[in-house]
Amino acid sequence: MKIYLASRNAHKISEIKNALPADITFLSLDDIPCEEELPETGETIPENSLQKAQYIWDNYQVNSLSDDSGLEIEALGGKPGVHSAHYAGSRDFDQNMAKVLQEMATATNRKAVFKTVMTLIIAGEAHQFEGIVEGEILHEKHGEKGFGYDPIFLPTGYDKTFAQMTTEEKNSISHRSRALAKVVAFLKSR
Ligand code: IMP
Repeated sequence: MKIYLASRNAHKISEIKNALPADITFLSLDDIPCEEELPETGETIPENSLQKAQYIWDNYQVNSLSDDSGLEIEALGGKPGVHSAHYAGSRDFDQNMAKVLQEMATATNRKAVFKTVMTLIIAGEAHQFEGIVEGEILHEKHGEKGFGYDPIFLPTGYDKTFAQMTTEEKNSISHRSRALAKVVAFLKSR
């Protein structure tokens, strides 16, 4: 079976490619070829995830896998959520973190989750898989690795932030890897 990944992020492409069963031929948007920007105008992470995979099916009638992720902070009513990538107005990670830290300055409830929703469309039928990692928002940044909100996110049960972990450590517990594990289990069970 062939599956096209609805993403242009090289890091995601290799992570997903390495996890999928060998009998799946994994292709990119360039292989279709699809050069347009994929739509991402949903109000929630599952909606955005579905939108991207559905676009590929609707326009090219090929199987597709998409993902959409974000950070949901309880004290902020689930923000930044679907707006995680440009919360402070641009894609600048430091500005986005600064906005979160400022909004959380006096919050005592520091609970947050990273969430990924992957959408797999096979023969026109959509299946969604959610991966979550629970944690808390620290008062300042710790660590230099990773990306996005990694320096201010301390996963529950660990004494270092995502930005203090190696890629392997982070991947072993991350929201993305948990959603991906569900996709892989689904594909193997078919
Ligand atoms: P995407 O849907 O995977 O592109 O993620 C959207 C945004 O959520 C990213 O631009 C980051 O700001 C944030 N995000 C998603 N996953 C992570 C992560 O693993 N660490 C830190 N930030 C993340």
